[in-house]
Amino acid sequence: MDEDIEKILLTPEAIQRRVAELAARITADYRGKELTIVAVLNGALVFTADLLRHIPLPLKLDCVSVASYHGGTETSGEVRFDQLSLPDIAGRHVLIVDDILDSGLTLDAITARFNRECRPLSTRVCVLLSKLKTRRKEMEAHYLGFEIADEFVVGYGLDYQERYRNLPHVAVLKAEVAR
Ligand code: IMP
Ligand code: MG
Repeated sequence: MDEDIEKILLTPEAIQRRVAELAARITADYRGKELTIVAVLNGALVFTADLLRHIPLPLKLDCVSVASYHGGTETSGEVRFDQLSLPDIAGRHVLIVDDILDSGLTLDAITARFNRECRPLSTRVCVLLSKLKTRRKEMEAHYLGFEIADEFVVGYGLDYQERYRNLPHVAVLKAEVAR
């Protein structure tokens, strides 16, 4: 895998430091509240697993699975929910955790659907990465790890055609690998 990488953007150490900082803010904000963290699979799996273990609150964990990419490096524009049942979040404060904010379509669709169909007390979004670009949907993350340039990245849960999720860092692939 290493030979496919153009450059490393974020080292494991930098990621872990930032994850702990985000978790400290989340812990302070949700103390005394009924919190459910909803991870957006598969990309947010690694980030959520690390984040959770720095939040010493009696929280619940749920997952949703959606797809908007169909193999390439550009969103298809359509967000499809892969499961029939939505998480049981009525009357709870919900923190949706995703790997990256790109066009904004995914997180907008999830937030809108939760608010419309699940009656949460509140919904906020936490992402590890946010691309500096004009979004197709206006969408701000309450908790943001790092702003990055508008490049396609992999690692720490993020994939290219389902590969590279297990890299410990966040990296940019060589142009001849990702097209
Ligand atoms: P959005 O709906 O365009 O904001 O895209 C969100 C989803 O697209 C994320 O949850 C990722 O799974 C995927 N994605 C967006 N940018 C990248 C990237 O640079 N690398 C890998 N996956 C990405
Ligand atoms: Mg994804």
